[in-house]
Amino acid sequence: MDYFEITGGNRLRGTLTVNGSKNAALPIMAASILTDGETVLKGVPRLEDVKHLSGLLEKLGVNVWRGENGDLHLKVEDEMNCHAEYELVRKMRASVCVMGPLLAKRKRAQVSLPGGCNIGDRPIDLHVSGMQQLGAESELLSGDVHLKAKKLKGNVVFLGGPFGSTVLGTANVMMAAVLAEGTTVIECAACEPEVTDLANYLNACGAHISGQGTPRITIEGVRELHGCEYTVVPDRIEAGTFMIAAAITNGDVKIANCRLDHLLALVDRLKAVGVIVERSGDYVQVSSSRRLEPISVTTQPYPGFPTDLQAQIMTLLCLADGNSIITEKIFPDRFVHVAELNRMGARLRKEGPTVIVEGVKNLVGAPVMASDLRASAALVLAGLVAKGKTKLSRVYHIDRGYEKIEERLNAVGADIKRLPE
Ligand code: EPZ
Repeated sequence: MDYFEITGGNRLRGTLTVNGSKNAALPIMAASILTDGETVLKGVPRLEDVKHLSGLLEKLGVNVWRGENGDLHLKVEDEMNCHAEYELVRKMRASVCVMGPLLAKRKRAQVSLPGGCNIGDRPIDLHVSGMQQLGAESELLSGDVHLKAKKLKGNVVFLGGPFGSTVLGTANVMMAAVLAEGTTVIECAACEPEVTDLANYLNACGAHISGQGTPRITIEGVRELHGCEYTVVPDRIEAGTFMIAAAITNGDVKIANCRLDHLLALVDRLKAVGVIVERSGDYVQVSSSRRLEPISVTTQPYPGFPTDLQAQIMTLLCLADGNSIITEKIFPDRFVHVAELNRMGARLRKEGPTVIVEGVKNLVGAPVMASDLRASAALVLAGLVAKGKTKLSRVYHIDRGYEKIEERLNAVGADIKRLPE
């Protein structure tokens, strides 16, 4: 198991290029189950999560391989197996997004319930109810959801839950509905750019989907889908993490392949903190050279402030000149980074789904670890600015979502060593 040794204090300067989005790539990879031809995906990052899903898809009869230029190819070879086993789903919750494609194409799906994870309870009741509304029968047996349907039928499917819509639930229902008979309307659909990207991929394969990116998505069922070549949307969360890295180190960084229109809530908050964010040609330039103002941040479904950047902005606000307030409205328990940041000298007090951040002058290097991907990213950011050395253990969490983050940050001035434990 590797750890990072991060020596803090360097200002980041230079250009960082954002990869394709992990959370767009994963459902699109699963959607290849629906197609009869070959899918060629451009821009899929080399991540542990991509490897896990490739392993699951292989078990489900999909041949997955990287071409010489790095493109990811997927082609269904065998449609017999319909079971996403606990071992694989437990490792990576996004595995549940094979449910919709399996049910639509193979008429049955057996998907292990993912169970709890480090960011809190993560039920899939909305996914299952969506499938039922399209006509599937479902049963829970030994921890697995069994779904079957001779024929799925279009319907109006409402996907609102106690914390808003569901991103992967919307993806699952959309994928099930593309081959259903008739028209499906998803009401209270997730508007996240990753859902839009999935819809655009499905349309490129011959689906008829409209309204993606809004709370009402309409899907006219088609008989079959073909393969296609598709470029995955840039990762807004990686871009946002890089923007905060520039801000926290008082750096001056150009970010390439960055969709600023997907990051308006972050840009709004960064500007309120006093960070300069400007579009310059093909880049987004982020710089910061003055004191950081305290602010309040509330996570919300897109286009609100993303929960996947909550931990990272908390690290930035640790160094603001005053008290900030962060409220988590998507995953109210997503705070494993709080205790670790406090080990580095932060002053954070958690009260229910809210954290009060009392700004401090410095963070100080310490041994820390985090069992969640974005929390680990937040600790890397803390290490970049802390006095002395930070030892971040369990970096496999960060490898799940950021490709070679240490090499890329080192190229713009960071000092991060990957070392064996
Ligand atoms: C996706 O998870 C992302 N994962 C998460 O990114 C992200 O944090 C999350 O969306 C929210 O933006 C992938 O895309 C692979 P949800 P998802 O269903 O779809 C509740 C990362 O770090 N809910 O939109 O699983 C749920 O508990 C990850 O990259 C139900 O109640 O999240 C939560 O409170 C982590 N019932 C809220 O809805 C359901 O059936 C939103 O969850 C489903 C969800």
